[in-house]
Amino acid sequence: PTIYVITPTYARLVQKAELTRLSQTFLHVPQLHWIVVEDSSQRTDLVSHFLEHSGLVFTHLHIPTPQDRKLQEGDPNWLKPRGVEQRNEGLRWLRENIWAGETAEGVVYFADDDNTYSLQLFEEMRWTQRVSVWPVGLVGGMRYEGPVVEQGRVVRFHTGWRPSRPFPLDMAGFATSLRLVLRNPEARFDGNSPMGFVESSFLQGLVTMEELEPKAEMCTKVLVWHTRTEKPKMKREEALQAQGLGSDSKVEV
Ligand code: UGA
Ligand code: MN
Repeated sequence: PTIYVITPTYARLVQKAELTRLSQTFLHVPQLHWIVVEDSSQRTDLVSHFLEHSGLVFTHLHIPTPQDRKLQEGDPNWLKPRGVEQRNEGLRWLRENIWAGETAEGVVYFADDDNTYSLQLFEEMRWTQRVSVWPVGLVGGMRYEGPVVEQGRVVRFHTGWRPSRPFPLDMAGFATSLRLVLRNPEARFDGNSPMGFVESSFLQGLVTMEELEPKAEMCTKVLVWHTRTEKPKMKREEALQAQGLGSDSKVEV
């Protein structure tokens, strides 16, 4: 089965660095189709050129997050969910472009551009029947969060916050079969869901806790980390720019 990886991404100083790290992980994964969805009103030249030279099988989409849904400078980052419209756009593309027949073998995974992914993770998810799950490291103010497995079944979730949520999982902690996505055309992420419920808004109706397929040695191994990249400081750059001595704007970073 092909793994369709949906990645929301947006323009900022570290974007090319993040995409480089991610693409060079994906180059080691057989049968991976990367669906990159820019948070922008147009495809940007930077991402277009980047993908053309990436060596990956890819689809390049874009959809802007409406202004009233975007996080403003200074907002706490839990205020509004990010990447929601972009993930839904990736789902739309799959539903319109992949034939929903018996041969539609595949897996759908939502990979944010700043996390760290072990190659082993992709082999764990490749044989997903409905929805497979595993722990995520360094998330939710915890060493890791993840499903708790007893006798081969998920019975609850190890999380530091609101374990009563229908699916208290991080976006990086599950994959779904392509067939399930195609057969449930209404399943999507709800950007209006309260904080921490975005993943649940998609998974509710697709699967029950009892049906979840635990991977990564019964959810005892961490194969993905919710790393976050520090925003680079530009103090010197700005000081030099004020003197007309800033870095060459023709050099892409
Ligand atoms: C956490 C979760 O791990 C995300 O899956 C979830 O989308 C996010 O919170 C949220 O709901 O707010 P976090 O590291 O805080 O992740 O979020 P980011 O990595 O900053 O953003 C998630 C994805 O959306 C990234 O791929 C990022 O490139 C993209 N994004 C972010 C946009 O497309 N537009 C933006 O304005 C910001
Ligand atoms: Mn992130």
